[in-house]
Amino acid sequence: MSSARFVPAGPLRGSLRPPPDKSISHRAALLAAMADGESPISRYLDSADTRATLDAVRALGATVETTEADPSGALDLSVAGIGMRGPGAGAGAEPLAIDVGNAGTLLRLLPGWLAGQAAGEWTLDGDESIRRRPVDRVVLPLREMGANVDARDERLPPLSVKGSRLHGISYRLPVASAQVKSCILLAGLAAEGETEVIEPAPSRDHTERMLAAAGARVTAETPGPGLAVRGALPPRRIVVRPADRLEPVRLSVPGDFSSAAFLLVAALVIPGSRVRLEGVGLNPTRVGLLGILNRMGAAIEVEEGIPSGGEPQGAVDARHSVLRATRVAAGEVPLTIDELPLVALAGAFAEGETVVGGAQELRHKESDRIASVVAAIRALGGEAEASEDGFAIRGVGGLRGGQIDSQGDHRLAMLGAIAGLASRDGVEVDGMDAASVSYPGFERDLRSLVG
Ligand code: S3P
Repeated sequence: MSSARFVPAGPLRGSLRPPPDKSISHRAALLAAMADGESPISRYLDSADTRATLDAVRALGATVETTEADPSGALDLSVAGIGMRGPGAGAGAEPLAIDVGNAGTLLRLLPGWLAGQAAGEWTLDGDESIRRRPVDRVVLPLREMGANVDARDERLPPLSVKGSRLHGISYRLPVASAQVKSCILLAGLAAEGETEVIEPAPSRDHTERMLAAAGARVTAETPGPGLAVRGALPPRRIVVRPADRLEPVRLSVPGDFSSAAFLLVAALVIPGSRVRLEGVGLNPTRVGLLGILNRMGAAIEVEEGIPSGGEPQGAVDARHSVLRATRVAAGEVPLTIDELPLVALAGAFAEGETVVGGAQELRHKESDRIASVVAAIRALGGEAEASEDGFAIRGVGGLRGGQIDSQGDHRLAMLGAIAGLASRDGVEVDGMDAASVSYPGFERDLRSLVG
């Protein structure tokens, strides 16, 4: 485990291209493996998580060729798909073991494809942190569809899947989760009849976009009048119909808004900063943070560019700002789920009390992000209080500094780094290497902006 010290520095100045989107990269590799033919994918994210997905689809029989990654962490892929019915491995022999590493998205999406195979048996397992991540959320709907899936204590990895015949269901997600929704949609492709997923609030819709582009019959609609909750999108109903084949995936992955968000918030809290990030994914189901920061008085400007890979993208410019506290409503949570730690950091620099509620899901991330974020803000001299489903941060004019442990959580490591640059005394981050799960070039990019 590596530790790194981040001393007060600034201002941050300049422009850069953040690494490619992790969620879109996982999906692109999976759908390319499921497709018939050769998928050219450019700007695939080269990170620990997305390498696990390439290893998994290779283990299932897809051929994957890659170029060297460029400095922004992007590489080009060519994937020879095995087709929807391709992964028959494990039949009659030992189950095929798939190591998902730290990748929750791979752990939750892949069983959707495997569950509907005519034959075959697989087990999915990963590192110590993934073994604490719940999988009952996919086991239950898959079983309803007729799948043969099992998990340790019914709710934790390893997860085992035996191919079986599936039928379509109508499933109301208990919590908005793009991973669970995507798993059910992938299973729906191989099921008999229509499969419907109803989300309490929209979660990221990359799977729907990519499936439609690959020729699958998938539709999304808003049932009834939308609830007018500030900053939230109305609930959604997604229907997928069975498919025999998928067309190859052809796309260029936009930059990851969730990675860019660290640099944007760094610019907001470090005096004199002005940072421009280019080629950032701006899918409306991902950018809830922009609305929240806007209410906090952040000077952020967005320039929409030409969509890439069926996804909106553009440039985002952020300048140091005097921030004021805000309240994040439950409906905003799915649109901001990975950025809520940054709302806490911004809150520590804002005037007043910033409150996040309706975010119980944070307890099931790479760490319990309610507990870990509150502990980190306190360890660095801030005032933070955890609640059952969120936290409250009282702005105290910045942070003193100190030491935190990433607990193997990439977003907590990067939070500590930004807090260090913006602090009075600096921050020591134990386990800084966790950042490479999603943003391997993070420290280098940060240094390049400090000058
Ligand atoms: C992801 C969905 C979210 C998010 C995670 C990536 C995805 O998880 O937190 O980092 O790629 O679908 P949930 O579906 O559990 O909310």
